[in-house]
Amino acid sequence: MCGIVGILGKSGENVLPSLLNSLEKLEYRGYDSTGIALSNGDGGSIIRVRSAGKLFNLKEKLQNMEVSGSIGIGHTRWATHGEPSEKNAHPMISTNLAVVHNGIVENYKKLKFSLENDGYIFTSDTDTEVIAHLIQRELFNDFSPVEAVQRCLSVMDGALAIAVVFADHKKIVAARRKGSLVIGFGEHVMCVGSDIGTISQLCQEVSYPEDTDIIEISENDAVFFGANFQKVDRPKHEVEHDPCHELAETYSHFTLQEIMDQPSAIRKTMLYNQNKIDESILEGVNTILILACGTSYHAGMVAKYWFEYFLKIQTNVEIASEFRYRSPIIADGTLVISISQSGETIDTLAALEYASSNGNCKTVAIVNVKNSSTDRSSNVVYYAEAGVERGVASTKAFTAQLTILASLAFCRNWFLRQQLQNIPTICEAALSIGDETREVARIISKSSSAIYLGRGNLYPIALEGALKLKEISYIHAEGFAAGEMKHGPIALIDERMPVLFLCPHNELFEKTFSNMQEVLARGKNIIAITDAEGEKNLPSDVRRLVLPTVCSAVAPIIYSIPLQLLAYYTALELGTDVDRPRNLAKSVTVE
Ligand code: F6R
Repeated sequence: MCGIVGILGKSGENVLPSLLNSLEKLEYRGYDSTGIALSNGDGGSIIRVRSAGKLFNLKEKLQNMEVSGSIGIGHTRWATHGEPSEKNAHPMISTNLAVVHNGIVENYKKLKFSLENDGYIFTSDTDTEVIAHLIQRELFNDFSPVEAVQRCLSVMDGALAIAVVFADHKKIVAARRKGSLVIGFGEHVMCVGSDIGTISQLCQEVSYPEDTDIIEISENDAVFFGANFQKVDRPKHEVEHDPCHELAETYSHFTLQEIMDQPSAIRKTMLYNQNKIDESILEGVNTILILACGTSYHAGMVAKYWFEYFLKIQTNVEIASEFRYRSPIIADGTLVISISQSGETIDTLAALEYASSNGNCKTVAIVNVKNSSTDRSSNVVYYAEAGVERGVASTKAFTAQLTILASLAFCRNWFLRQQLQNIPTICEAALSIGDETREVARIISKSSSAIYLGRGNLYPIALEGALKLKEISYIHAEGFAAGEMKHGPIALIDERMPVLFLCPHNELFEKTFSNMQEVLARGKNIIAITDAEGEKNLPSDVRRLVLPTVCSAVAPIIYSIPLQLLAYYTALELGTDVDRPRNLAKSVTVE
C-alpha cells in the first residue's frame, strides 16, 4: 500500500530514468497518484513533479520537461488521507527537503496543529506533510538530517516507511517502523525501496532494516541506526534475479502470466518445503488458529476443512482485521498460522502480535515474499515459492499457499501426499480449458451480478472465485455454501443471473445436484464446473466446464483455476485494468 523508492547516484548521473523504472515495478502497491523529487544535494533547489492517476500520466508530464538530479525519491500512492489528486500526491516538500511515505501517521492532527502554530503552511490533506515539516523544523534547529528524522519519528505514532532527500546534503535518509523497506548497494547507485523487486535491477546486494531502524544513505555506504539511535550492523544479502518481475512476450497481463505460472509455482513450493513441513510442528498442538485476510483468508478456510478432517485438530480461521478487537482467548497448545502473500498486511501482523503476546503458542507464517515483517515475527516460516506476484489480484500465491497447507494437512497420509505430487501436472490440464472459460466469461460480462456456489472444501473456493470476479471485472459477485441458498440468497435468482456451481463428482455431488435443481427451477443461466463423471449427470441445458478428475481432498487447488480464468477473461471482455484494478493495492499496510 503505497510504494516508495530512493536512488542516490555515485557519480552524479541523472537518476530520473532509474526512478521511473523502479516506479513501474512499484505500481502494484498503489496507483492513485505518482510523483518524484530530484536534488543534487548541493544547495540547489529540489525539483518535484507529481501527477494524479497512474504512472503513465507522470511519464507524459515529464516528457515536456527537462528535469534531472543525482539523488531522487519516488512514490506510488494508495490514498488514505486526502483524495487521489495531484495536490495530495507525494513527495511532500518542506523548505529544504522532500519525503515519500508508506503508512499512516496516526497522531497527525495534533502534530499538524503544533506545526501550524509555528507558522508552517500545509498545502495538502495528507498526514505525510507533517513528516516533511517536522523534519524541516529539526533541520532549522541545526540537527543533522539523520538526527532530524530520528527526532521527527520520536513524536509520531503509526506504522510507516519513509525516504527523504535534501537540498543541501548528498544523502537519503530512510526509516521503517513496521513498514517494509530494503536498502540496496549497487555498483553505480545506493538505493532504498519498499521491496526488493523495486531496486533489484540497480544493486548487487541488499540489507533489510529491522523494525525502527533509521538509515543514512550516502554515496558509498549506508549507516544503520537501531534501538536508542545506536549504530548497528545489518547483514547484506546477494540479490537473486526473479524472472517473475518481467512480463513475458506471450502474455499481455501479469495476471494471466501468473495464472499460467501455477504448475511451476506449485512445483517449486513443494520442492522447497518437502523436507521442512512435517509432523513435528504439530507436537503438543491441541488447536490451530489461522489468521489471514482476503484471498489468504480463503486459503485458511480450505485448511480448516483439511486440518479437522485429516489431522483431527480443531481449527479456527479468523479474519485478521476483526480478530484482535474482540479480546479472543488463545488456549495453551495453540498453533497459530498466519497466511499472507506479502507478509506485510498490517491486519494480519497485528493479529499475530496479539496472539503471540496473549497466549502460550507456537507461530507459523506462510508467506510468499521473503524477509517480510510476518516471517520475522514468527517461530517457523514456510515460504510459498510462487515468485513475485505483480498482478494485484492474488492467483499463484493462493494455490501455493494451499499447497503448503495441504502438505501439512496430509503429513500423516502417504496416499494424499502422492496425490499432491500430481497436482502440477493436473493444473496444466486444468489450464488448458482457457478457451471454454472465454465463452462463459462472455456471458458473465453481460451481467451485473453473479453467484458462486460450492460445498465442503469447495465452499471457500466459491468465495474466492467471487472475490476474483469482483476485484478485476468490477461485477458484483457473491459466494455461498450451496446448501445455504434456500435460506435466503435464492431470492436473487432470476432468468439472467449467472450461477456457477463447483460440483465435482464427489461425496457431496448428490447434495449439490439437488441445490442445482432448486436453482434450475428458477433460473436459466447455470454453469457447472465439474469432472467427467459429474458431467454425465448434468441436465442438457446446463453449461459446463469439465476439469480433470481429482480426489476431493486436492480439488480446491484445481477448482481455483477455472475461476481465476473466468475472472480474467471477464475483465478482458469489459476492458478493465486487469493488473491494477481500481481502488486496490497489493500490499495492504494500513488497518
Ligand atoms: C485478493 C487479494 C487480497 C489479499 C489480502 C491479503 O486477490 O490479493 O484479498 O489476499 O489483501 O494480502 P496478503 O495475502 O498479502 O496478506
